Amino acid sequence: MELLFLLLVSGTWSLTGAQFYYQGLVEYVENRLLALEDRMQLWHDQTQRCHTELQDFQKQTSEAVDGLGGEHGALLRDLEGAAVRLDRLEREMDHVEAQNSPRACTNKADKVVEQEAWGLEEGRGDEEEEEEWEELDSTVSDCVDIIAAIRSVKILKRVGGPKGMWTRDPQSSEVYVFNGTSGDSVYRFSSVADFSRSVGLSSGRQIALPSRWGGLGGAVYNGYLYYIQQGAGADVQVVKYDLLSESVTDVAMFPVESLAAVYKLNPETVADLAADDEGLWLLYAASDSELNIHLAKMDAGTLDIEQIWDTRCPREKAEAAFVVCGTVYVVYNTRLASRSRVECVFDVNDMVQSEEAPLLYFPRRYGAHSSLKYNPEEKQLYAWDDGYQIIYRLTMKRKLLV
Ligand SMILES: *[C@@H]1O[C@H](CO)[C@@H](O)[C@H](O)[C@H]1NC(C)=O
Repeated sequence: MELLFLLLVSGTWSLTGAQFYYQGLVEYVENRLLALEDRMQLWHDQTQRCHTELQDFQKQTSEAVDGLGGEHGALLRDLEGAAVRLDRLEREMDHVEAQNSPRACTNKADKVVEQEAWGLEEGRGDEEEEEEWEELDSTVSDCVDIIAAIRSVKILKRVGGPKGMWTRDPQSSEVYVFNGTSGDSVYRFSSVADFSRSVGLSSGRQIALPSRWGGLGGAVYNGYLYYIQQGAGADVQVVKYDLLSESVTDVAMFPVESLAAVYKLNPETVADLAADDEGLWLLYAASDSELNIHLAKMDAGTLDIEQIWDTRCPREKAEAAFVVCGTVYVVYNTRLASRSRVECVFDVNDMVQSEEAPLLYFPRRYGAHSSLKYNPEEKQLYAWDDGYQIIYRLTMKRKLLV
Protein backbone atom coordinates (compact mmCIF):
# COMPACT_ATOMS: atom_id res chain seq x y z
CA MET A 1 0.00 0.00 0.00
CA GLU A 2 2.82 2.37 0.93
CA LEU A 3 4.43 1.57 -2.37
CA LEU A 4 1.25 2.39 -4.21
CA PHE A 5 0.85 5.59 -2.30
CA LEU A 6 4.40 6.62 -3.06
CA LEU A 7 3.78 5.95 -6.71
CA LEU A 8 0.62 8.00 -6.51
CA VAL A 9 2.19 11.05 -4.94
CA SER A 10 5.35 10.97 -6.98
CA GLY A 11 3.31 12.94 -9.41
CA THR A 12 5.12 14.19 -12.48
CA TRP A 13 4.21 11.69 -15.15
CA SER A 14 3.93 12.20 -18.85
CA LEU A 15 1.27 10.52 -20.97
CA THR A 16 3.61 7.75 -22.17
CA GLY A 17 4.86 7.37 -18.64
CA ALA A 18 1.26 7.02 -17.51
CA GLN A 19 0.66 4.04 -19.77
CA PHE A 20 3.73 2.33 -18.40
CA TYR A 21 2.71 3.24 -14.91
CA TYR A 22 -0.78 1.76 -15.32
CA GLN A 23 0.72 -1.47 -16.51
CA GLY A 24 2.88 -1.71 -13.42
CA LEU A 25 -0.03 -0.83 -11.17
CA VAL A 26 -2.32 -3.37 -12.80
CA GLU A 27 0.36 -6.05 -12.51
CA TYR A 28 0.86 -5.13 -8.88
CA VAL A 29 -2.86 -5.38 -8.14
CA GLU A 30 -3.09 -8.62 -10.10
CA ASN A 31 -0.23 -10.19 -8.17
CA ARG A 32 -1.89 -9.28 -4.91
CA LEU A 33 -5.15 -10.70 -6.18
CA LEU A 34 -3.43 -13.97 -7.03
CA ALA A 35 -2.03 -14.20 -3.55
CA LEU A 36 -5.42 -13.39 -2.09
CA GLU A 37 -7.17 -15.98 -4.24
CA ASP A 38 -4.73 -18.50 -2.87
CA ARG A 39 -5.83 -17.67 0.62
CA MET A 40 -9.49 -17.60 -0.32
CA GLN A 41 -9.30 -21.20 -1.43
CA LEU A 42 -8.59 -22.24 2.12
CA TRP A 43 -11.53 -20.27 3.29
CA HIS A 44 -14.01 -21.54 0.84
CA ASP A 45 -16.69 -22.23 3.42
CA GLN A 46 -16.14 -19.78 6.23
CA THR A 47 -15.71 -16.61 4.25
CA GLN A 48 -18.67 -16.37 1.94
CA ARG A 49 -18.91 -12.68 2.68
CA CYS A 50 -15.25 -12.05 1.86
CA HIS A 51 -15.70 -14.05 -1.29
CA THR A 52 -18.57 -11.89 -2.50
CA GLU A 53 -16.54 -8.85 -1.70
CA LEU A 54 -13.58 -10.23 -3.61
CA GLN A 55 -15.79 -10.83 -6.65
CA ASP A 56 -17.08 -7.28 -6.44
CA PHE A 57 -13.56 -6.12 -6.19
CA GLN A 58 -12.45 -8.20 -9.16
CA LYS A 59 -15.27 -6.70 -11.18
CA GLN A 60 -14.25 -3.26 -10.08
CA THR A 61 -10.64 -3.95 -11.04
CA SER A 62 -11.48 -5.36 -14.43
CA GLU A 63 -13.73 -2.38 -15.08
CA ALA A 64 -10.87 -0.12 -14.12
CA VAL A 65 -8.52 -2.01 -16.41
CA ASP A 66 -11.05 -1.94 -19.26
CA GLY A 67 -11.16 1.78 -18.90
CA LEU A 68 -7.44 2.00 -19.53
CA GLY A 69 -6.74 4.64 -22.09
CA GLY A 70 -9.76 6.61 -20.89
CA GLU A 71 -9.68 9.34 -18.34
CA HIS A 72 -6.45 8.98 -16.39
CA GLY A 73 -7.49 10.75 -13.24
CA ALA A 74 -10.69 8.73 -12.80
CA LEU A 75 -8.85 5.50 -13.50
CA LEU A 76 -6.25 6.35 -10.96
CA ARG A 77 -8.90 7.01 -8.33
CA ASP A 78 -10.60 3.70 -9.18
CA LEU A 79 -7.41 1.77 -8.80
CA GLU A 80 -6.56 3.56 -5.62
CA GLY A 81 -9.98 2.71 -4.22
CA ALA A 82 -9.50 -0.88 -5.32
CA ALA A 83 -6.16 -1.10 -3.58
CA VAL A 84 -7.64 0.29 -0.39
CA ARG A 85 -10.36 -2.37 -0.53
CA LEU A 86 -7.76 -5.02 -1.24
CA ASP A 87 -5.85 -3.92 1.83
CA ARG A 88 -9.00 -4.09 3.92
CA LEU A 89 -9.79 -7.54 2.56
CA GLU A 90 -6.33 -8.76 3.44
CA ARG A 91 -6.69 -7.41 6.95
CA GLU A 92 -10.05 -9.13 7.23
CA MET A 93 -8.48 -12.37 6.09
CA ASP A 94 -5.74 -11.95 8.69
CA HIS A 95 -8.42 -11.41 11.31
CA VAL A 96 -10.55 -14.36 10.23
CA GLU A 97 -7.48 -16.55 10.13
CA ALA A 98 -6.43 -15.45 13.59
CA GLN A 99 -9.94 -16.05 14.96
CA ASN A 100 -10.54 -19.38 13.42
CA SER A 101 -7.24 -20.57 12.17
CA PRO A 102 -7.07 -23.19 9.44
CA ARG A 103 -4.51 -25.77 10.40
CA ALA A 104 -1.17 -26.40 8.91
CA CYS A 105 -0.89 -30.09 8.26
CA THR A 106 0.89 -31.53 11.23
CA ASN A 107 2.74 -34.73 10.80
CA LYS A 108 3.33 -37.19 13.54
CA ALA A 109 6.91 -38.26 14.03
CA ASP A 110 7.64 -41.18 11.82
CA LYS A 111 11.06 -42.64 12.24
CA VAL A 112 12.75 -43.79 9.12
CA VAL A 113 14.29 -47.20 9.57
CA GLU A 114 17.04 -46.77 7.06
CA GLN A 115 19.67 -46.35 9.67
CA GLU A 116 22.09 -48.80 8.07
CA ALA A 117 22.71 -46.34 5.31
CA TRP A 118 23.71 -43.79 7.91
CA GLY A 119 26.03 -46.08 9.80
CA LEU A 120 23.81 -46.25 12.85
CA GLU A 121 23.42 -50.00 12.83
CA GLU A 122 27.00 -50.59 13.92
CA GLY A 123 27.15 -52.36 17.23
CA ARG A 124 23.39 -52.56 17.57
CA GLY A 125 21.67 -55.78 18.47
CA ASP A 126 23.38 -55.81 21.82
CA GLU A 127 20.95 -55.06 24.64
CA GLU A 128 22.78 -52.10 26.11
CA GLU A 129 22.88 -50.20 22.86
CA GLU A 130 19.22 -50.93 22.37
CA GLU A 131 18.39 -49.28 25.68
CA GLU A 132 20.54 -46.25 25.02
CA TRP A 133 18.73 -45.82 21.76
CA GLU A 134 15.35 -45.95 23.47
CA GLU A 135 16.43 -43.30 25.91
CA LEU A 136 17.62 -41.07 23.12
CA ASP A 137 14.19 -41.29 21.51
CA SER A 138 12.39 -39.82 24.47
CA THR A 139 14.86 -37.06 25.27
CA VAL A 140 15.56 -35.70 21.85
CA SER A 141 13.66 -32.51 22.64
CA ASP A 142 12.81 -31.03 26.05
CA CYS A 143 11.78 -27.66 24.76
CA VAL A 144 8.06 -26.91 24.74
CA ASP A 145 7.70 -23.77 22.64
CA ILE A 146 5.56 -23.54 19.56
CA ILE A 147 5.22 -20.49 17.33
CA ALA A 148 2.00 -18.59 17.99
CA ALA A 149 2.47 -15.73 15.54
CA ILE A 150 4.89 -13.61 13.60
CA ARG A 151 4.94 -10.55 15.82
CA SER A 152 6.88 -8.03 13.79
CA VAL A 153 9.14 -7.57 10.84
CA LYS A 154 12.19 -5.37 10.44
CA ILE A 155 13.75 -4.76 7.06
CA LEU A 156 17.34 -4.11 7.98
CA LYS A 157 19.05 -3.36 4.70
CA ARG A 158 19.70 -4.47 1.15
CA VAL A 159 23.13 -5.82 0.38
CA GLY A 160 24.66 -8.49 -1.86
CA GLY A 161 22.92 -10.59 -4.50
CA PRO A 162 19.23 -11.53 -4.76
CA LYS A 163 19.96 -14.84 -3.00
CA GLY A 164 22.00 -15.33 0.11
CA MET A 165 21.92 -16.19 3.78
CA TRP A 166 22.66 -14.36 7.00
CA THR A 167 22.60 -15.58 10.54
CA ARG A 168 23.73 -14.74 14.06
CA ASP A 169 25.62 -17.06 16.36
CA PRO A 170 23.18 -17.63 19.27
CA GLN A 171 26.16 -17.64 21.66
CA SER A 172 27.68 -14.35 20.51
CA SER A 173 26.48 -11.19 18.84
CA GLU A 174 28.38 -11.85 15.63
CA VAL A 175 26.61 -11.85 12.30
CA TYR A 176 27.71 -13.99 9.34
CA VAL A 177 26.76 -13.34 5.74
CA PHE A 178 26.84 -15.89 2.91
CA ASN A 179 26.40 -13.86 -0.28
CA GLY A 180 25.03 -15.55 -3.41
CA THR A 181 24.41 -19.29 -3.69
CA SER A 182 28.00 -20.56 -3.52
CA GLY A 183 31.39 -19.20 -2.63
CA ASP A 184 34.64 -19.73 -0.75
CA SER A 185 34.30 -17.01 1.85
CA VAL A 186 31.81 -15.46 4.26
CA TYR A 187 31.59 -12.01 5.84
CA ARG A 188 31.60 -11.36 9.56
CA PHE A 189 30.18 -8.33 11.37
CA SER A 190 30.55 -7.78 15.11
CA SER A 191 26.80 -7.24 15.65
CA VAL A 192 23.49 -6.71 13.88
CA ALA A 193 23.88 -2.96 14.49
CA ASP A 194 27.36 -3.03 12.98
CA PHE A 195 26.02 -4.90 9.94
CA SER A 196 23.12 -2.46 9.67
CA ARG A 197 25.48 0.54 9.65
CA SER A 198 27.96 -1.00 7.21
CA VAL A 199 28.21 0.11 3.61
CA GLY A 200 28.42 -2.98 1.42
CA LEU A 201 29.76 -6.37 2.41
CA SER A 202 33.42 -5.47 2.11
CA SER A 203 33.25 -3.41 5.32
CA GLY A 204 32.81 -6.71 7.17
CA ARG A 205 35.70 -9.04 7.83
CA GLN A 206 36.05 -11.55 5.02
CA ILE A 207 36.76 -15.09 6.20
CA ALA A 208 38.35 -17.27 3.53
CA LEU A 209 37.20 -20.86 3.95
CA PRO A 210 39.38 -23.87 3.01
CA SER A 211 36.71 -25.19 0.63
CA ARG A 212 33.66 -23.94 -1.26
CA TRP A 213 30.23 -23.77 0.28
CA GLY A 214 27.24 -24.58 -1.94
CA GLY A 215 23.62 -23.66 -1.33
CA LEU A 216 22.23 -21.69 1.58
CA GLY A 217 22.27 -24.46 4.16
CA GLY A 218 25.01 -23.11 6.43
CA ALA A 219 24.72 -22.48 10.17
CA VAL A 220 26.72 -20.80 12.92
CA TYR A 221 26.52 -22.45 16.31
CA ASN A 222 28.66 -21.98 19.43
CA GLY A 223 31.65 -20.46 17.69
CA TYR A 224 31.65 -22.94 14.83
CA LEU A 225 30.60 -22.38 11.27
CA TYR A 226 28.93 -25.36 9.61
CA TYR A 227 28.58 -25.39 5.88
CA ILE A 228 27.53 -27.71 3.08
CA GLN A 229 30.17 -28.68 0.59
CA GLN A 230 29.21 -30.49 -2.58
CA GLY A 231 31.95 -32.91 -3.50
CA ALA A 232 32.43 -34.97 -6.62
CA GLY A 233 29.39 -36.88 -7.84
CA ALA A 234 26.54 -36.98 -5.38
CA ASP A 235 28.63 -36.41 -2.27
CA VAL A 236 27.27 -33.95 0.22
CA GLN A 237 29.54 -33.06 3.10
CA VAL A 238 28.98 -31.07 6.25
CA VAL A 239 32.11 -29.13 7.21
CA LYS A 240 32.64 -27.91 10.76
CA TYR A 241 34.91 -24.87 10.85
CA ASP A 242 36.32 -23.41 14.06
CA LEU A 243 35.92 -19.64 13.78
CA LEU A 244 38.48 -18.98 16.52
CA SER A 245 41.37 -21.09 15.25
CA GLU A 246 40.19 -20.65 11.65
CA SER A 247 40.54 -24.33 10.79
CA VAL A 248 38.34 -27.28 9.87
CA THR A 249 37.76 -29.52 12.87
CA ASP A 250 35.50 -32.13 11.29
CA VAL A 251 33.91 -33.25 8.04
CA ALA A 252 31.02 -35.71 7.72
CA MET A 253 29.66 -37.20 4.57
CA PHE A 254 26.01 -37.76 3.77
CA PRO A 255 25.45 -40.66 1.41
CA VAL A 256 22.45 -39.24 -0.42
CA GLU A 257 21.55 -41.21 -3.53
CA SER A 258 21.47 -38.22 -5.81
CA LEU A 259 21.81 -34.49 -5.43
CA ALA A 260 18.34 -33.05 -5.02
CA ALA A 261 17.00 -29.73 -3.77
CA VAL A 262 15.51 -29.88 -0.27
CA TYR A 263 13.21 -27.02 -1.23
CA LYS A 264 12.08 -27.05 -4.84
CA LEU A 265 11.80 -23.25 -4.97
CA ASN A 266 15.46 -22.86 -3.97
CA PRO A 267 17.16 -25.57 -6.04
CA GLU A 268 20.70 -24.53 -5.01
CA THR A 269 20.20 -25.81 -1.47
CA VAL A 270 20.71 -29.59 -1.32
CA ALA A 271 20.91 -29.75 2.47
CA ASP A 272 20.00 -27.19 5.11
CA LEU A 273 21.46 -26.99 8.60
CA ALA A 274 19.24 -25.54 11.31
CA ALA A 275 20.18 -24.68 14.89
CA ASP A 276 17.58 -24.49 17.65
CA ASP A 277 17.41 -24.85 21.44
CA GLU A 278 18.05 -28.56 21.04
CA GLY A 279 21.14 -28.39 18.88
CA LEU A 280 21.85 -28.96 15.26
CA TRP A 281 19.52 -30.42 12.64
CA LEU A 282 19.89 -31.24 8.98
CA LEU A 283 17.04 -30.98 6.49
CA TYR A 284 17.69 -32.83 3.25
CA ALA A 285 16.22 -34.76 0.35
CA ALA A 286 17.24 -38.41 0.38
CA SER A 287 17.04 -38.58 -3.43
CA ASP A 288 15.34 -36.75 -6.27
CA SER A 289 12.54 -39.30 -6.37
CA GLU A 290 11.82 -38.75 -2.67
CA LEU A 291 8.86 -36.37 -2.40
CA ASN A 292 9.29 -35.38 1.23
CA ILE A 293 11.78 -33.40 3.24
CA HIS A 294 13.83 -35.55 5.61
CA LEU A 295 15.19 -34.48 8.96
CA ALA A 296 18.29 -35.63 10.81
CA LYS A 297 19.33 -34.74 14.36
CA MET A 298 23.07 -34.14 14.43
CA ASP A 299 25.58 -34.12 17.22
CA ALA A 300 27.08 -30.64 16.87
CA GLY A 301 30.35 -31.85 18.38
CA THR A 302 31.06 -34.95 16.33
CA LEU A 303 28.70 -34.47 13.35
CA ASP A 304 27.24 -37.91 14.09
CA ILE A 305 23.66 -38.52 13.04
CA GLU A 306 21.56 -39.43 16.07
CA GLN A 307 18.22 -40.07 14.42
CA ILE A 308 16.39 -39.45 11.18
CA TRP A 309 12.76 -38.86 10.25
CA ASP A 310 10.61 -38.46 7.18
CA THR A 311 8.76 -35.18 7.93
CA ARG A 312 6.08 -35.99 5.31
CA CYS A 313 6.24 -32.33 4.36
CA PRO A 314 6.50 -32.14 0.55
CA ARG A 315 9.54 -30.57 -1.15
CA GLU A 316 7.32 -29.26 -3.91
CA LYS A 317 6.65 -25.51 -3.59
CA ALA A 318 8.76 -25.40 -0.42
CA GLU A 319 10.86 -22.27 -0.11
CA ALA A 320 12.67 -22.75 3.19
CA ALA A 321 12.29 -24.38 6.60
CA PHE A 322 13.49 -23.89 10.14
CA VAL A 323 13.40 -25.82 13.40
CA VAL A 324 12.09 -24.46 16.71
CA CYS A 325 12.11 -26.72 19.78
CA GLY A 326 12.33 -29.89 17.76
CA THR A 327 9.47 -28.85 15.49
CA VAL A 328 10.10 -28.29 11.79
CA TYR A 329 8.18 -25.46 10.11
CA VAL A 330 8.20 -25.70 6.33
CA VAL A 331 7.54 -22.47 4.45
CA TYR A 332 5.76 -22.64 1.08
CA ASN A 333 5.28 -20.16 -1.71
CA THR A 334 4.19 -20.15 -5.34
CA ARG A 335 6.51 -19.93 -8.32
CA LEU A 336 5.21 -16.45 -8.96
CA ALA A 337 6.21 -15.25 -5.51
CA SER A 338 3.22 -14.33 -3.37
CA ARG A 339 2.93 -14.59 0.39
CA SER A 340 5.11 -17.16 2.11
CA ARG A 341 3.37 -19.30 4.69
CA VAL A 342 4.06 -22.19 7.01
CA GLU A 343 1.85 -24.96 5.69
CA CYS A 344 3.46 -28.02 7.13
CA VAL A 345 4.66 -28.69 10.64
CA PHE A 346 6.47 -31.74 11.94
CA ASP A 347 7.24 -32.36 15.60
CA VAL A 348 9.84 -35.01 16.43
CA ASN A 349 8.16 -35.56 19.80
CA ASP A 350 4.59 -35.80 18.51
CA MET A 351 3.68 -33.07 20.95
CA VAL A 352 2.35 -30.49 18.54
CA GLN A 353 -1.28 -31.34 17.92
CA SER A 354 -2.58 -30.34 14.54
CA GLU A 355 -5.15 -28.01 16.09
CA GLU A 356 -2.44 -25.91 17.74
CA ALA A 357 -0.31 -25.42 14.64
CA PRO A 358 -1.62 -22.28 13.02
CA LEU A 359 -1.26 -21.52 9.36
CA LEU A 360 1.32 -18.74 9.62
CA TYR A 361 1.55 -16.08 6.96
CA PHE A 362 4.64 -13.94 6.55
CA PRO A 363 4.06 -10.23 6.04
CA ARG A 364 4.09 -8.92 2.49
CA ARG A 365 7.59 -8.70 1.10
CA TYR A 366 9.62 -7.93 -1.96
CA GLY A 367 10.04 -11.36 -3.52
CA ALA A 368 10.78 -14.80 -2.13
CA HIS A 369 12.93 -16.03 0.75
CA SER A 370 16.14 -17.72 -0.25
CA SER A 371 16.88 -18.58 3.39
CA LEU A 372 15.30 -18.42 6.86
CA LYS A 373 17.53 -18.99 9.88
CA TYR A 374 16.13 -19.23 13.40
CA ASN A 375 17.96 -17.83 16.39
CA PRO A 376 16.79 -19.59 19.58
CA GLU A 377 18.27 -16.96 21.93
CA GLU A 378 16.28 -14.11 20.44
CA LYS A 379 13.37 -16.16 19.08
CA GLN A 380 13.62 -14.53 15.72
CA LEU A 381 14.24 -15.44 12.12
CA TYR A 382 16.98 -14.02 9.94
CA ALA A 383 15.64 -13.92 6.40
CA TRP A 384 17.12 -13.08 3.01
CA ASP A 385 14.38 -11.86 0.72
CA ASP A 386 15.38 -10.88 -2.80
CA GLY A 387 18.53 -9.16 -1.54
CA TYR A 388 16.88 -7.61 1.52
CA GLN A 389 17.98 -8.72 4.99
CA ILE A 390 14.93 -9.03 7.19
CA ILE A 391 14.32 -10.01 10.82
CA TYR A 392 11.01 -11.60 11.86
CA ARG A 393 10.23 -11.61 15.57
CA LEU A 394 8.14 -14.54 16.75
CA THR A 395 5.63 -14.90 19.54
CA MET A 396 5.73 -18.27 21.26
CA LYS A 397 3.26 -20.33 23.23
CA ARG A 398 3.66 -23.62 25.04
CA LYS A 399 2.85 -26.88 23.36
CA LEU A 400 -0.24 -28.51 24.80
CA LEU A 401 1.00 -31.46 26.77
CA VAL A 402 -1.19 -34.49 26.36
C1 LIG B 1 27.27 -10.91 -3.91
O1 LIG B 1 26.72 -11.85 -4.81
C2 LIG B 1 26.30 -11.32 -6.04
C3 LIG B 1 25.73 -12.46 -6.87
O2 LIG B 1 24.74 -13.15 -6.21
C4 LIG B 1 27.46 -10.66 -6.76
O3 LIG B 1 26.98 -10.05 -7.93
C5 LIG B 1 28.10 -9.63 -5.85
O4 LIG B 1 29.26 -9.12 -6.47
C6 LIG B 1 28.47 -10.24 -4.53
N1 LIG B 1 29.00 -9.21 -3.65
C7 LIG B 1 30.14 -9.36 -2.96
C8 LIG B 1 30.58 -8.19 -2.14
O5 LIG B 1 30.79 -10.37 -2.98
